[in-house]
Amino acid sequence: MPHEVHGVVARSKGQPVSLETVLVPDPGPGEALVQVQACGVCHTDLHYRDGGINDDFPFLLGHEAAGVVEAVGDGVTDVAPGDFVVMNWRAVCGRCRACRKGTPWYCFDTHNATQPMTLADGTELSPALGIGAFIEKTLVASGQCTKVDPSAPAAAAGLLGCGVMAGFGAAVNTGGVGRGDSVAVIGCGGVGNAAIAGARVAGATTIIGVDVDERKLAWSRDFGATHTVNAKDQDVVETIRALTGGFGADVVIDAVGRPETYEQAFYARDLAGTVVLVGVPTPDLQLTLPMIEMFGRGGALKSSWYGDCLPSRDFPMLVDLYQQGRFDLDRFVSETIGIGDVEKAFEKMHRGEVLRSVVVL
Ligand SMILES: NC(=O)c1ccc[n+]([C@@H]2O[C@H](COP(=O)([O-])OP(=O)(O)OC[C@H]3O[C@@H](n4cnc5c(N)ncnc54)[C@H](O)[C@@H]3O)[C@@H](O)[C@H]2O)c1
Ligand SMILES: [Zn+2]
Ligand SMILES: [Zn+2]
Repeated sequence: MPHEVHGVVARSKGQPVSLETVLVPDPGPGEALVQVQACGVCHTDLHYRDGGINDDFPFLLGHEAAGVVEAVGDGVTDVAPGDFVVMNWRAVCGRCRACRKGTPWYCFDTHNATQPMTLADGTELSPALGIGAFIEKTLVASGQCTKVDPSAPAAAAGLLGCGVMAGFGAAVNTGGVGRGDSVAVIGCGGVGNAAIAGARVAGATTIIGVDVDERKLAWSRDFGATHTVNAKDQDVVETIRALTGGFGADVVIDAVGRPETYEQAFYARDLAGTVVLVGVPTPDLQLTLPMIEMFGRGGALKSSWYGDCLPSRDFPMLVDLYQQGRFDLDRFVSETIGIGDVEKAFEKMHRGEVLRSVVVL
């Protein structure tokens, strides 16, 4: 018998989301049914609602979540009912060419549940990032569930499932930030501030936060920014160069994902430095850069999917850092809200009032 629950659905492009009755099947082979306890509102949910990811409406939104496994299907051995888990959107296959090469964070064949969740009339839902967690219970592939210490509060732990992991990993995994490095982060929302916090944990000594909103810049200083730049009234490239001895930063992270911010990142890095694109551009955006500059500056232009993370390695490690007081996950939680408040949370995100609104179920 399917479970009848309530979930947040985006029915059509740009329209406000609504709370709908959703039918969630019992887990089949390789699947897990998870009772969601908390799910953060990420900018990517808004991208989905606005048609910026693809046109597979209706979407079941929500994807940075923690909860408890309620049931598992045949053949599932990695998690069991009662386990406290953070859900991930890249359950690696272990068999594709990336996995076989020993680089599973690039896995080209990640797993999701195979059975669909549907509206009451049978319409199949597209779960955001293969999760769909603004809902009381969701169905995922068992590999999408990563067990972590159950004493971590769900509202904070769930954020590891997307934005915080993406930002932290953009700095530490993709950017390879290390002791003594200079790092600039453009866009200090949930993702950008996690990159700043990651750079601090990794030992960077100059950490520059860039945003257009003074509130975000104040928060970035709490997470470890040693300097901040307001892109509305300062020249981003010149200021970053001035703060790094005239050269530019070793690693510049674009956590916005627009041509103008990417261009700033490109020119604000030192020779042989690294640019990391972690903000997600919409499909219409184009960028023109002089090829001679791409060649002449050397270094690396990288993108960071999910912070190049391995959930099984990185989620428990980040929970450890949190419990040791070295990584303040609670500070990302600006407010906890009800499942009916996601549309209002999008508005607050738009106005820059929050780092993360977290739906608590
Ligand atoms: N790569 C991944 O795996 C991954 C994972 C999660 C989110 N994301 C993406 O990362 C981006 C950020 O997500 P978020 O949840 O932190 O969003 P957010 O809305 O909380 O933060 C975006 C920040 O960028 C700032 N900003 C906007 N325009 C700017 C500009 N021109 N210069 C400087 N700052 C500017 C905003 O003021 C805001 O503080 C989004 O594009 C999101 O889709 C990527
Ligand atoms: Zn693979
Ligand atoms: Zn996200």
